[in-house]
Amino acid sequence: MAQSHTLTVRVAEVVRETADAHSLVLEPDPVDAERFHYKPGQFLTVRVPTDRAGGAARCYSLCSSPDLGEPLKITVKRTAGGYGSNWLCDNVVAGSTLQVLRPSGTFTPRSLDGDVLLCAAGSGITPVLSILKAVLHRGSGTVTLVYANRDENSVIFRDELAALTARFPKRLSVIHWLESVQGLPSVDALARLAAPHADAAAYVCGPEPFMDAVVAALTEAGVPRERVHLERFLTLDSDPFAEVEDVAEDPSVETAVVEVTLDGETTTHAWPVDRHLLDVLLQAGLDAPFSCREGQCSACACKVLEGEISLDRNEVLEKEDLDEGYVLACQSIPRSPKLRITYD
Ligand SMILES: Cc1cc2nc3c(=O)[nH]c(=O)nc-3n(C[C@H](O)[C@H](O)[C@H](O)COP(=O)(O)OP(=O)(O)OC[C@H]3O[C@@H](n4cnc5c(N)ncnc54)[C@H](O)[C@@H]3O)c2cc1C
Ligand code: FES
Repeated sequence: MAQSHTLTVRVAEVVRETADAHSLVLEPDPVDAERFHYKPGQFLTVRVPTDRAGGAARCYSLCSSPDLGEPLKITVKRTAGGYGSNWLCDNVVAGSTLQVLRPSGTFTPRSLDGDVLLCAAGSGITPVLSILKAVLHRGSGTVTLVYANRDENSVIFRDELAALTARFPKRLSVIHWLESVQGLPSVDALARLAAPHADAAAYVCGPEPFMDAVVAALTEAGVPRERVHLERFLTLDSDPFAEVEDVAEDPSVETAVVEVTLDGETTTHAWPVDRHLLDVLLQAGLDAPFSCREGQCSACACKVLEGEISLDRNEVLEKEDLDEGYVLACQSIPRSPKLRITYD
């Protein structure tokens, strides 16, 4: 019987960051604390109550830092006409409980010691703030943040960023870009801001047009594509909270053997060639991370150390991720008889 992957958190506090963005400070049940370990830049998947068939789930990046003993915190910005974000902002109060999936995602810094260039717009600041704090507190590089917003009142975490700039004046510089003053950031303007940081690793998150402009600007500024990491804020169509169904095994189907390392433990499993790796691991009772199960979010990403796999669908991993050996467990089919995979 597969282990339940749904976790419950209590909302300890709701912080009104701006007129349309609320932070939720979350407290996991102490028995589940181990399952909430996360890396800077990762996200939680939150169940949003609905009468609609198929449920509703939305992903929210953790803006807290795993390294500073901060409580878990997500920030939800209202999307005009959106169902999930408005439900969360209208209904969640201190003392509410929410159902979530364990933290996951690949938008995490590969090293904390090099220089980083962070580009965020609007709510895209959430994973970027977590990365920024990790590099400042645990790493040694410099951090440049280009942060675009509609106007001064819509700048989320303005005070926290000002306090960090005062504390790390030699290592952190924050460049605010206000659409109300400067207009939309153009590719040329972004390229000029990025040019002095062409040797840095870049992390980019925000609305699609902003991300496209930043990617074009970084190319113009000479930052190689493999050093540019993107997080796209999509809405899930699927219901990742649905119970995982046990599937009867068909003895006539060929199986591969896979050794999997997850949360510091290594286990070995038979992997039928007609099944996705994630399903095999969940059925074996492993607490393997996932969210969309449709190849769209990267929550299930893991690394192939030995063997070959093919991906049925991939809308999120970039060529550079694939070259590093990352695959999506929810879409992976074995293509060699023996494989080794790690999540750690
Ligand atoms: C990795 C990741 C991290 C993210 N991090 C953040 C973050 O830190 N902060 C943030 O603000 N956003 C974040 N997002 C975006 C977030 O997940 C949502 O996409 C966003 O909040 C918009 O959701 P929405 O439901 O309000 O709006 P929409 O995306 O516009 O949702 C509308 C959808 O809801 C459906 N719908 C309408 N009525 C109902 C109903 N009654 N029941 C069920 N469904 C209905 C519609 O069919 C439509 O598909 C992140 C996304 C990803 C993938
Ligand atoms: S769970 Fe979303 S890509 Fe696999």
